[in-house]
Amino acid sequence: MSRNKSVLLGCLSLIISVAVAGPEWNILSHRTKDGLSISLRNYCESWRMNVELHNIREFQVVPEECVGYIGKYVTSTQYKVDSERAIEEAIVYLSTSCNLEKDGKDAWIFDIDDTLLSTVPYYKKQHFGGEKLNLTSLEEWMSQGKAPALENSLKLFNEMKARGLQIILVSSRREHLRSATIDNLVDVGYYGWTSLILRGPDDELMGVQNYKTEVRKQLIGEGYRIWGIVGDQYSSIEGLPRAKRTFKLPNPLYYVS
Ligand SMILES: *[C@@H]1O[C@H](CO)[C@@H](O)[C@H](O)[C@H]1NC(C)=O
Repeated sequence: MSRNKSVLLGCLSLIISVAVAGPEWNILSHRTKDGLSISLRNYCESWRMNVELHNIREFQVVPEECVGYIGKYVTSTQYKVDSERAIEEAIVYLSTSCNLEKDGKDAWIFDIDDTLLSTVPYYKKQHFGGEKLNLTSLEEWMSQGKAPALENSLKLFNEMKARGLQIILVSSRREHLRSATIDNLVDVGYYGWTSLILRGPDDELMGVQNYKTEVRKQLIGEGYRIWGIVGDQYSSIEGLPRAKRTFKLPNPLYYVS
């Protein structure tokens, strides 16, 4: 086969696979079903927005045609600004709407991954969510304890400490990662939390949302007032009992239910 021909065939198969992967996006016509002329960027921005709005759920991988866009987003200034805004709103809430009793029972819950620590360096090697989750390789990466801090979250964490809130970390990471997780957190500047709750074998039998609501039930039973949660997944903030307020950080890389 001539070189040109094979290049042409390669392009054609790419076009076909892209067209199949995105039912509402036709790369040949650059039009939606309704005939609106859009770019791939429009399509992927809309995918990302609808993930954040929780209209798109349970996705296993980032759509192939949007991997480039999502990779750019999570490494962009926009991602930092979006996260910073969420954190600023949490600080506004703390300053204006929380009458803390300062009796050691005012609590705040944080997720860990993509809330306090960034997994973007790992997902960069997994085509920014374009590949299905491989728990073995993700846990190998986590056990190295090299995840960087999300700087705005560190700021909020320290603000909470200064205000005397009890900081409770609730993560779907498994127990065997406890010491690696503590080392990683301390290395990048997080210390002084009240408790670090990870998933034990029994917790693994239920979904992450159930596990996290059970943890809240227990905390409330112990007399804690949960003023807020910061998390990057809806499974961290939805379900009963609720926190008084919740703050969602952007995460278009993966979905945890
Ligand atoms: C998952 O990751 C492990 C460890 O890096 C690797 O050995 C294994 O082949 C991977 N599995 C798949 C299905 O890619």
